Amino acid sequence: MSGNAAALVEPAPIVACTISRDVQEFDLLIEDMEAELGESWGDLSISDAITFFGQPDAESLEFIAVAMDEEDEPNLARFAEVIRKATTHGIKAIVIAEEVSPIALHQLLKMGAEEFVPYPLPEGALHDAIERLRTPEPEPEPVRHEIAHANGGRSGNADGVVLAIHGLAGGVGATTLAINLAWELATVEKEHPPSVCLLDLDLQFGTVSTYLDLPRREAVYELLSDTESADQDSFNAAMISFNDKLQVLTAPSDMLPLDLVSDEDIRRIITMAQSQFDYVIIDMPRTVVLWTETVLQAAHVYFTPVELDMRSAQNTLRMIRALKSEELPVDRLRYVLNRAPKFTDLTGKGRVKRMAESLGISIDIHLPDGGKQVVQAGDHGLPLAESAPKSPLRKEIAKLAKSVHEVNQNADAAAK
Ligand SMILES: Nc1ncnc2c1ncn2[C@@H]1O[C@H](COP(=O)(O)OP(=O)(O)OP(=O)(O)O)[C@@H](O)[C@H]1O
Ligand SMILES: [Mg+2]
Repeated sequence: MSGNAAALVEPAPIVACTISRDVQEFDLLIEDMEAELGESWGDLSISDAITFFGQPDAESLEFIAVAMDEEDEPNLARFAEVIRKATTHGIKAIVIAEEVSPIALHQLLKMGAEEFVPYPLPEGALHDAIERLRTPEPEPEPVRHEIAHANGGRSGNADGVVLAIHGLAGGVGATTLAINLAWELATVEKEHPPSVCLLDLDLQFGTVSTYLDLPRREAVYELLSDTESADQDSFNAAMISFNDKLQVLTAPSDMLPLDLVSDEDIRRIITMAQSQFDYVIIDMPRTVVLWTETVLQAAHVYFTPVELDMRSAQNTLRMIRALKSEELPVDRLRYVLNRAPKFTDLTGKGRVKRMAESLGISIDIHLPDGGKQVVQAGDHGLPLAESAPKSPLRKEIAKLAKSVHEVNQNADAAAK
């Protein structure tokens, strides 16, 4: 028998397996698996799956499709075990989930599942997930969030450091961090302070102008609505100076739709800002918009403030998933815990640790609660350094500014 004929009679090797409590409950998955793989897939129960992975028959397996619904949540640990085992054998995992809580899903993704598809399966979703599994990982692009590396090749001050701040829940202190970080950077050195600009891209609800008591200029709208013909002069005309040390592009005076500006507009504005300033601080809207990616790609550090609550935890998870599904650099996010528990508060610290662990992130920057002084500073239109210099919140932000500036200077020195 020739090789070809043998291939005709021998069953095709099994390249994938569905694993679930009862695959009949996921009939759309059966249909899609058949459409994608014909006969070359099988079905296993959860307990069989664990013993199967080590066996020779499992060698041809490319991936497993683990299907679960609400009823399976109490057995999450076993599903997680299946995924972990599979990935240790080099078998990839897709999770197909119906009404499963985000926390549970996150656990499974953390165990190494590469893809998540909701059930009922949207048209083409399984196909796309399989395609992505089969596409080799792209070479990691240079990690730009490390300022040091990003600035390695920069000359003079033609390419400012971009620091974006994107609060992951409302009122978590994003703008407070943005204005104080900008101010601390602008005053980080007496002799040769770096030039700093602050762009309020929270176009609808931006409060930079309130917190710094600055008027909103008509020219901002003109700039945003026609960036193509904008030049350095019109960019400068739209900005306003705070205490002669910080240049601010406030949000426009009227509430504009976030999609008034395109990713191209935002790219132009950031480039113009970078060519003039050593530091470009961007206050982002909380909503993810078309140009969020543009800022994420341009940012050397993308700070994401959160608080210690369920709301922040869930939003973080949604953000991570959204970025991952678009293959955006999720590792560029730098989590900032605002109103962090004091270091004597052991229960609070335990909660922070659990939150970080359950999200699979590390929360490196902790900002303390600054009490009423912070609100008052905002109401008076002043950065903390000017209204409450001894505030513990101010001290932490000043430290952050110093370390950013040091890293940046060292990188500049190394590049010379
Ligand atoms: N660490 C802190 N200690 C005390 N008050 C704080 C702290 N951080 C922020 N605040 C106060 O909380 C309120 C919300 O802060 P802020 O406006 O900076 O949040 P935000 O994330 O920008 O909100 P939004 O979702 O509206 O953009 C403000 O009144 C601010 O003064
Ligand atoms: Mg804000």
